Amino acid sequence: MPKLNVNIDLVARLRELRKTPYPDLLQAADIVEAAGAEGITVHLRQDRRHIQDADLPALRKHIKTRLNLEMANTEEMINIALDVKPDMVSLVPEHPNEVTTTGGLDVVANEDAIKASTAKLKAAGIHVSYFIDADEAQIDASKRCGAQSVELCTAEYSDARLAEKQFEEFEKIANGARHAASLGLLVNVGHGLDYRNTTMLASLPEVEDFNTGHAIIIQAVFDGLHKAVADMVKLVKG
Ligand code: PXP
Repeated sequence: MPKLNVNIDLVARLRELRKTPYPDLLQAADIVEAAGAEGITVHLRQDRRHIQDADLPALRKHIKTRLNLEMANTEEMINIALDVKPDMVSLVPEHPNEVTTTGGLDVVANEDAIKASTAKLKAAGIHVSYFIDADEAQIDASKRCGAQSVELCTAEYSDARLAEKQFEEFEKIANGARHAASLGLLVNVGHGLDYRNTTMLASLPEVEDFNTGHAIIIQAVFDGLHKAVADMVKLVKG
């Protein structure tokens, strides 16, 4: 049965917009876990635009499911991960001005550096995953570098506006999932998944984990907005 990890970066981003102590990330994590998610994902970006360093030990201590830390393969981030010891590290590419993670990690071009970091993380008991495109060469290189899981990037699939293009992208992910599983890699998927496009991927038997954030937090705004306004109206009316 596949599992859902919820990325709560957007909750942290709301907090950082005003530098307020709220919304409380731990409260968000509690709700996510109570709703049935089996993991909490956060991306500690080099620019610290959402999750902050201090959030990590607090989450590590508080959550009852699994902590998946997304991060770039830099010395700083590896040291933080070794210190915090999340259940899983997902190595992702990171570019300074990108709006969100853009495409998969180029494992082929960075094999030595990725292999060295993977060995350090695994020696500390951390499960290591790479966020990659569903490309055979990247999957093979991931296996060579010692990854235990790969997260296949679903951005192109999610962004596809035409059914034909979406099906083409689905086929790439399905083939990638089969290939990765045949090498003994666990298969995860993520990026841009929402309430319309997740079901088709959930039909893939190889997929273990879904990593989804943006669509869930946006949905929560609309599910909660009526009550939030009604509560304030009551206060205003006295
Ligand atoms: N997986 C990875 C590697 C990501 O970088 C992100 C975005 O932070 C996600 C999954 C989740 O994507 P989304 O927020 O679009 O659901």
